[in-house]
Amino acid sequence: MRKNIVAGNWKMNKTLQEGIALAKELNEILAGEKANCDVVICTPFIHLASVTALVDPAKMAVGAENCADKESGAYTGEVSAAMVASTGAKYVILGHSERRAYYGETVAMLEEKVKLALANGLTPIFCVGEVLDERDNNKQNEVVAAQMASVFSLSAADFSKIVLAYEPVWAIGTGKTATPAQAQEMHAFIRSIVAEKYGKEIADDCSILYGGSCKPSNARELFVNPDVDGGLIGGAALKASDFKGIIDAFN
Ligand code: PGA
Repeated sequence: MRKNIVAGNWKMNKTLQEGIALAKELNEILAGEKANCDVVICTPFIHLASVTALVDPAKMAVGAENCADKESGAYTGEVSAAMVASTGAKYVILGHSERRAYYGETVAMLEEKVKLALANGLTPIFCVGEVLDERDNNKQNEVVAAQMASVFSLSAADFSKIVLAYEPVWAIGTGKTATPAQAQEMHAFIRSIVAEKYGKEIADDCSILYGGSCKPSNARELFVNPDVDGGLIGGAALKASDFKGIIDAFN
């Protein structure tokens, strides 16, 4: 069954103490009610163990923002999928455009990361999206289809465990959101190529989140589209009331 999901991506924000305070606040805000979507908060590695220990797992899951493309060993500074899973985290964002652009993550590296995440019981939130120049030249479908190669080597059983996120790079942190029509068009395209590869049933069950300047004021018009199954939220995930406002778009 396709799930609606609102996932926060804290990026490189919040000290450990600030992160714990935000997670506690979200826990309290969500305590009294039943959200109409799954809620995930993806935090820096150092927050994971503390945050998973304090959130109510019935209300919220915790995820990392990355993991290594190697299993273990002499890779100074890296954090493996097994380490992420050992904190109690359930999700991991992979292929975020900031990782692709600033840290040189390639289709092949991401394929390894996705496989290791799945092997360790984590749910990858796999991100795709084009830059402005590519959209201006009407190359967005081609670019996104090429990025999907990282997950198209998975078996159907493994593919059905992942979550996708479409994040047009020109909309991330810019205040410029894709229009609901642009989001729907790309989500439908992604679902169509998933259907070609794995069949209609798996495509219909796949959650595809939208990311890029999503906020309480525009979440509803984005999520109401038939192929938009929630959001991956950056800036607006750093304030509990804004994040809650986005979760409430499903009410
Ligand atoms: P934004 O970031 O909501 O701040 O645009 C989204 C993301 O990068 O996941």
